[in-house]
Amino acid sequence: MESLIIHEKIKKSRLPARLDLIQSGTGLILGLFMWVHMMLVGSIVLGKGVFNFVAKTMELSFLSSTGHGYPAAVFFAVLVIFTLFIIHAGLGMRKFPISWKQHAIFRNQMGMMKHEDTNLWYIQVVTAFIMFFLGSVHLYVMLTNPGQINAELSAARFITHNMWPLYLVLLFAVELHGTIGLYRLAMKWGWFDKLEWFNQEDRGGARKYLKVLKNRLTIFFLALGLLAWLVFTVIGIRL
Ligand code: HEM
Repeated sequence: MESLIIHEKIKKSRLPARLDLIQSGTGLILGLFMWVHMMLVGSIVLGKGVFNFVAKTMELSFLSSTGHGYPAAVFFAVLVIFTLFIIHAGLGMRKFPISWKQHAIFRNQMGMMKHEDTNLWYIQVVTAFIMFFLGSVHLYVMLTNPGQINAELSAARFITHNMWPLYLVLLFAVELHGTIGLYRLAMKWGWFDKLEWFNQEDRGGARKYLKVLKNRLTIFFLALGLLAWLVFTVIGIRL
């Protein structure tokens, strides 16, 4: 009798679907945030003056008559992103292979299926694991130094505070995870499936076209990120 009642209860739960929706929602926001973040950080490529202007604008300096910024604005932005980051990571852990046996089974299936989207999922798991640690360090540093963002101080974090290896690994992890994540969301929720545009000329349908777009965006953001990484490193060495 009890087992019938318990089975009844489990069957009806909509919780997993709701958690998937929250994970997709936080993933969408974080993915789009990372594209904006990379453009803002990438402004260092255009020179220290441009980067400092962007950093001050992010501190809402245009709201003050003296032009000084409000580090509290960056503090709250980091707090929101850090909270979304933790929620997304916590929900993402539900999908991780939790034992070596599960991991081995998944790797075997990957080897047999040779299915690109399944391989992409594995990259998601590995990059997510890396970001648990490296992303948290970066976010904590930003949370506790919201007013310490300009070309020299950022470059000092790269070299004097030895963040250059962390940023290099995190750059690859976040750009792969973010762009694959947005592609998988578009596939999972079918956002573009009904758009006739994707089936016209030789676009080959939404999945094929979005995969090409995903690869191009990954290359673009990695190239911009590596260039910014290089510029920060050179400025930091010269400090
Ligand atoms: C609101 C939250 C965030 C702020 C304010 C922020 C700010 C910054 C700033 C100012 C830099 C330049 C280096 C420095 O000053 O130390 C930077 C670099 C970087 N950030 Fe963030 N960040 C945020 C969130 C994130 C998140 C969530 C990730 C990934 C999980 C991330 C990944 C990176 C990477 C990889 C770099 C190095 C970029 C490069 O070398 O080209 N950031 N961030």
